Amino acid sequence: MKTVLTESPIEAAEFIERGGIVAFPTETVYGLGANVFDEQAIAKVFEAKRRPNDNPLIAHVGEIEQIKLLVSEISETAKKFIEAFFPAPLTLVLPKSVNVPLIATANLQTIGVRMPKNNFALEFLKACRTPVVAPSANLSGKPSPTTWQAVFEDLDGKIDCILQGAPTEIGLESTVLDCTAETPLVLRAGAVTLEELQKVEPRTKLYQLLKNENPKSPGLKHRHYSPRAQVVLQSSEFKVQSSKSSAFIGLNEPKVKFDLVKICATVDEYAHSIFEFFRQCDREKIEIIHCETVKERGIGLALMDRLKRAAEN
Ligand code: TXA
Ligand code: MG
Repeated sequence: MKTVLTESPIEAAEFIERGGIVAFPTETVYGLGANVFDEQAIAKVFEAKRRPNDNPLIAHVGEIEQIKLLVSEISETAKKFIEAFFPAPLTLVLPKSVNVPLIATANLQTIGVRMPKNNFALEFLKACRTPVVAPSANLSGKPSPTTWQAVFEDLDGKIDCILQGAPTEIGLESTVLDCTAETPLVLRAGAVTLEELQKVEPRTKLYQLLKNENPKSPGLKHRHYSPRAQVVLQSSEFKVQSSKSSAFIGLNEPKVKFDLVKICATVDEYAHSIFEFFRQCDREKIEIIHCETVKERGIGLALMDRLKRAAEN
C-alpha cells in the first residue's frame, strides 16, 4: 500500500470518509484513525499496528455534540468532567451506544471518548464528520509516536495516509478516567493530573490493579512503550556503569559518562521527550537506557508509569 503524506486535514479526512486509515497528530501523541462506525476500517487499524484484538480503542470527537453518537448515557459526574476539561488530554470511559460496533471497544460495553486539545487535530476531526477511533500510531509494544516521522518509521506502507503536523506538545498519552461507577477511577495517568481531577470530583481515585484480577483497562496488561534497549530506573545517584553502550535521560547532569545524554529542564520537558528519546536510542543502537526517577505527582505520575512499564520488559 502506498502511504500518502499530506499537510491538508481535508485531504486526510477524505481517506477516512472512503474507509481508509489515517495517522494524525493530537496534543498527546499521534493517533491512527478510522471511522468509528466502519468495522472494516477498524479491523485495518488493528492489523496495521499488530494490536491485540482485546485492547479497546478511544473515540475522538471534533465537537462536544458528537459524544451523544457514541454513548448511551452521560452521568452528572461525567458532565462535570466534560465541562471542566474538554477539549483536553483526557479520555472518559462511558457506557457505549448500541450503534458503536463491538470491534471498536474489544467487546466491552463501554467506550473511551476524548476531544483533543489541538486545533490541527480538531480541524481534521471536524472534516471527518464522524467520530474517529484512534489508538496511538505506533506498532504495538513500541513507544508511542510524537512526530510524524516516528509514525512513518513504524507504519509506512501499512496505512493510507499520514497527516503531517508538528511534534506533539505533551508527548505522553491521555489520562484515561473510568466514569462508569460511583467513584471515578484513573485507569491510566496522563497530563490531566489526579490532583486536577480531584478538584472537580474529590472522590476520584487512582485505579490499583490487584493481583490475579483482570485489569479494568485491557491495555494495562499489554507490553508497552518499550525501546529495544534495556531500560533501567535510578535516582540521581549514578554509580552503575557497564561496558555496554548506554544512554541517560533525566533532570540532573550525571557524574559518569554515557554515550548519549539528554538533560531536561523540567518534568514536563522530560515527559515530552521520553518516547522520542527511546526511539533515538534504538536508532543509535544503545543497549542500556538509564532513566532518572521523578516524584510521582502531577505529570510525574504519568511519566513514572511509562518508565516503569518500559523497565518491566
Ligand atoms: O492520548 C491518547 O489517548 C492517544 C491519542 C491518539 O488520543 N491514544 C492512545 O490510544 O493512547 P491507545 O489505544 O494507545 O491507548 C488507549 C488506552 C488503552 O490502554 C486501552 O486499554 C484503554 O485506553 N481503553 C480504551 N477504551 C477503554 C474502555 N472502554 N475501558 C477501559 N479502558 C479503555
Ligand atoms: Mg498505545
